[in-house]
Amino acid sequence: MSTDIRIGIVTVSDRASAGIYADEGGPAIEAYLARALTSPWTPVTRVIPDDRKLIADTLKALADEEGCCLIVTTGGTGPAPRDVTPEATEDVIEKPMPGFGELMRQVSLAKVPTAILSRQTAGIRGKALIVNLPGRPRAIGECLDAVMPAIPYCIDLIE
Ligand code: MTE
Repeated sequence: MSTDIRIGIVTVSDRASAGIYADEGGPAIEAYLARALTSPWTPVTRVIPDDRKLIADTLKALADEEGCCLIVTTGGTGPAPRDVTPEATEDVIEKPMPGFGELMRQVSLAKVPTAILSRQTAGIRGKALIVNLPGRPRAIGECLDAVMPAIPYCIDLIE
């Protein structure tokens, strides 16, 4: 990882973005990374509705303009009609990294049978690794515990 580490944290939620309820997912990711990372880093946070083009544009801006080496999304991975975060991620990635979603679903299934409902994926855009997490705040630790060991190495490989 470079010395100026910028990490995108994107909450995808119609209701959180409209202020109907507070965003809990974004702060939970930020708190997790603050505990997990030893080097200094800067969060670049966004809270946006479940709109495929807006999600894709946000991911592109964080990767291409904001210089984020890692972008973590939360929400919009399920089967509901408005859940389009994986599709938006696939719209912008150049290289899929299917192992992330596979591993996160596998470990999550040991905790909740509904983990099978998450279509979370991951991939590379330029020098950024994009990883989807489900929207439930408790899913954040459950999923990141599984994939965190591979993330710094992956970022080193794409730098
Ligand atoms: N994964 C973990 N680790 N923990 C959870 O509580 N919730 C599941 C699943 N994956 C869950 C999880 C549920 S209930 C749903 S509907 C899907 O993630 C999709 O959630 P999302 O649409 O909020 O992304």
